[in-house]
Amino acid sequence: MKTPSLLTLALCVRLIAASIDRQVIVSQFNPTRYASSNSTPMQVGNGNFAFGTDVTGLQTFLPFGTLSSWGWHNFSLPTDANQTVPEDFTGLDWWTHGRLVNYDQPNPAEPVISNWLIQNPQRLNLGQVGFWFEPSLNVTEESLVGKVQTLDLYSGIITSKFEFLGKNLQVKTAVDPDSDTVSIQVESELLESGELGIFFDYPYSDVNKFDAPFVGVWNATSMHTTSLQQSEGQAQITHEIDATTYYTSIKWDVEASITGPENGTHRYTLLLTSNCGNTLDLSVNFSPSLTKDVPTADTTSLTSQSWWQQYWETGAFIDLTSTPSTNATELQRRIILSQYLLAVNSAGHDSPQESGLVSNGWYGKFHLEMPVWHLGHWARWGKWSLLERAIPGMYERFLPTSIQRAQEQGYEGARWGKMSDPTGRSAPGEINSLLIWQQPHVMYFAEMEYRDFPGEETLKKWDELLTWTAEFMVSFAWWNTSTGVYDLGPPMYPVSENTNPNATINPTFELAYWRFGLSIASSWKSRQNLSIPAKWTHVLNNLAPLPIENGTYIIYEGIPNMWIDNTTYYDHPAMTGIYGLLPPLSIPSFNLTIMSNTASKIASIWDFSQLFGWDFPMLAMNAAKLGEPDKAVGYLLDPNFVFDGVGMPVGGPRVATPYMPGSGSLLLAVAMMAGGWDGMSEGVSAWPEGWVVRSEGFARAM
Ligand SMILES: *[C@@H]1O[C@H](CO)[C@@H](O)[C@H](O)[C@H]1NC(C)=O
Ligand SMILES: *[C@@H]1O[C@H](CO)[C@@H](O)[C@H](O)[C@H]1NC(C)=O
Ligand SMILES: *[C@@H]1O[C@H](CO)[C@@H](O)[C@H](O)[C@H]1NC(C)=O
Ligand SMILES: *[C@@H]1O[C@H](CO)[C@@H](O)[C@H](O)[C@H]1NC(C)=O
Ligand SMILES: *[C@@H]1O[C@H](CO)[C@@H](O)[C@H](O)[C@H]1NC(C)=O
Ligand SMILES: *[C@@H]1O[C@H](CO)[C@@H](O)[C@H](O)[C@H]1NC(C)=O
Ligand SMILES: *[C@@H]1O[C@H](CO)[C@@H](O)[C@H](O)[C@H]1NC(C)=O
Ligand SMILES: *[C@@H]1O[C@H](CO)[C@@H](O)[C@H](O)[C@H]1NC(C)=O
Ligand SMILES: *[C@@H]1O[C@H](CO)[C@@H](O)[C@H](O)[C@H]1NC(C)=O
Ligand SMILES: *[C@@H]1O[C@H](CO)[C@@H](O)[C@H](O)[C@H]1NC(C)=O
Ligand SMILES: *[C@@H]1O[C@H](CO)[C@@H](O)[C@H](O)[C@H]1NC(C)=O
Ligand SMILES: *[C@@H]1O[C@H](CO)[C@@H](O)[C@H](O)[C@H]1NC(C)=O
Repeated sequence: MKTPSLLTLALCVRLIAASIDRQVIVSQFNPTRYASSNSTPMQVGNGNFAFGTDVTGLQTFLPFGTLSSWGWHNFSLPTDANQTVPEDFTGLDWWTHGRLVNYDQPNPAEPVISNWLIQNPQRLNLGQVGFWFEPSLNVTEESLVGKVQTLDLYSGIITSKFEFLGKNLQVKTAVDPDSDTVSIQVESELLESGELGIFFDYPYSDVNKFDAPFVGVWNATSMHTTSLQQSEGQAQITHEIDATTYYTSIKWDVEASITGPENGTHRYTLLLTSNCGNTLDLSVNFSPSLTKDVPTADTTSLTSQSWWQQYWETGAFIDLTSTPSTNATELQRRIILSQYLLAVNSAGHDSPQESGLVSNGWYGKFHLEMPVWHLGHWARWGKWSLLERAIPGMYERFLPTSIQRAQEQGYEGARWGKMSDPTGRSAPGEINSLLIWQQPHVMYFAEMEYRDFPGEETLKKWDELLTWTAEFMVSFAWWNTSTGVYDLGPPMYPVSENTNPNATINPTFELAYWRFGLSIASSWKSRQNLSIPAKWTHVLNNLAPLPIENGTYIIYEGIPNMWIDNTTYYDHPAMTGIYGLLPPLSIPSFNLTIMSNTASKIASIWDFSQLFGWDFPMLAMNAAKLGEPDKAVGYLLDPNFVFDGVGMPVGGPRVATPYMPGSGSLLLAVAMMAGGWDGMSEGVSAWPEGWVVRSEGFARAM
């Protein structure tokens, strides 16, 4: 509704005051499955560790991932005579404003080590835990009767049930919020008869860029070793995979023991002593160091319940369920399931990988241009403790190598990398080395925090990071004597990675983001009563104008055949981000009519089938700010932006499923639509006519 009626306003206010019964709303969206999906698991996890299950509640028939923030593996170094160590990699020199700058790009003269550095390290699948059935029974998923599996979002517990040989089985699966432990509570007569046990298996790493839906290979058994140690009620399996070693610590509560590994495999089996009852409580902990304190399954089930209850009952919340529209119901489903999946997959020590802890994309590495989409919503939904696991710690850890990167290229400040592993090394790549829009993210996070926690503590916390980042941004901007403005690029890649890097100059989004970043860095100094370096102000005031052609913003200045050649308009439509994602730009070249023309042109011509998840929420934020709530909601429900039955964001034609930035950006857009934004006019709503929206805890977006 563009102008909400008084009645609706009064209703909203009353209900907000009464506060929303969150459990009632959340529970409506508990996902249920009756068979395994062949593309996504139903998951439990804690943000740094996740366990993906098939319909049996374990990884019985489908080896979905057990992934973590800490589990990584290097293949051994290449054995070629002259390319054996990372130091042998020299990258490539490209002309950059009249000088040669060295970039971490695959060097055709060093193919082997270039490739090794791209593929290593990879994120490990820590192990597979499934039901073992007496082999002569030839059990398949189809032979299990009455399968039903439900995830209780409010407690983080999956309950899976089925029947086999006329006997029922029920299993509850959960993950401890504080340790990387899966708890498994089984009730079944099959346990007593010796027909059922639990198996543990360990894959070797795979070299695929995308390893989805399953991670690792099970037939390279001679490449790695496992060993078992057990005593009463507990066991430990040590997995050594090249230079990586980690431990599975297992604890159970009945008379049982583990045997294995079966010949030629790394498969172990836990079997109950016969007639030892029909329940089994099992805890399976994964850790890079030996762990004595494995919580019992009972304890984990309780800590999981209290963590998730607390998760749902703190921070912001939105309720669309009073809107009589299936679109509102679907949007609510996406919101609730995204909230769950982001806490499981995208709340770790580093920025998450695109596929979270479900499977591997880009070898399990994470991309530093993506944290705003992956993690920005935590700030906007008031879930600061989850954001603080990664931010700003990750930037602080990566600062020394980012300063070194800038220095080696002849720039001031710190240049953040791109496709990263936990050491902060950026993998060789032409795009990886030439993308620049990751730089001002530091300012975006800092400013979100300052808006919620204005004060000296926040200013101090971020000052060093902002200063180093701004110094790079200032020194990267090139003073063009013939035009009298600072240019960005060439060479560079803009957000849409489909342009010629040697011709790309002054892209719309990056120019706007540079202005945003430098103005935040400057106000950071003013807020501390420190002087703003003159060079910062000079660059900020003299950046090239946003490029405009025929009344629209274009990808970059001088791009040939924008809107004419379809190879220009299929990648990220980042021009919409300058208004949707960023605060109002007080620059002469920003013009709302042109912004609106650009949005219309994109809506009419862009190839949406080629978009990546977060493009839709970015388009939605722009539409909302332009006063087009139907379009905003339409983008969040676009037929090319799909969330499956358990809420996993589907990748589409260009990337594997799940593509988690779709979930994070959805929540960022919803926070903006619920809380409004700076400069939003009175009486404007970001929601369609007739929608009944109750929300609490959302502050205005910048
Ligand atoms: C992989 O090798 C690189 C380069 O030697 C090293 O920095 C990194 O710590 C290694 N990672 C793992 C998980 O072994
Ligand atoms: C070894 O180094 C030489 C000289 O740098 C290079 O020409 C050659 O391609 C390298 N060999 C391999 C196998 O990469
Ligand atoms: C860009 O220019 C560099 C030389 O500075 C050249 O090596 C490279 O191939 C060019 N790249 C493209 C995509 O044209
Ligand atoms: C299992 O499969 C084997 C080999 O196909 C067959 O001989 C046996 O009868 C099957 N057992 C059951 C219980 O179906
Ligand atoms: C493992 O299986 C894959 C797929 O079937 C096959 O391509 C590969 O060669 C096998 N590897 C080994 C070591 O047997
Ligand atoms: C494993 O191998 C050993 C020695 O080759 C053999 O005696 C044993 O029967 C095998 N066990 C299984 C389960 O295949
Ligand atoms: C200066 O700006 C113009 C217009 O953008 C551009 O064509 C030219 O290449 C720039 N000069 C240098 C030296 O980069
Ligand atoms: C900056 O100066 C103003 C005015 O003197 C003062 O109120 C404020 O506390 C100072 N802020 C800081 C962070 O020192
Ligand atoms: C904005 O752009 C439109 C279309 O080019 C133009 O007609 C209008 O004068 C511009 N507005 C301002 C304030 O510059
Ligand atoms: C701008 O409009 C002119 C005249 O209609 C047309 O020839 C040209 O191709 C347009 N350029 C773009 C980028 O749309
Ligand atoms: C561009 O148009 C051509 C001809 O219609 C088509 O074959 C091609 O797939 C399109 N490319 C993209 C990226 O949409
Ligand atoms: C629901 O959303 C779809 C997709 O955006 C849209 O086409 C349809 O018109 C919407 N329906 C209603 C009733 O708003």
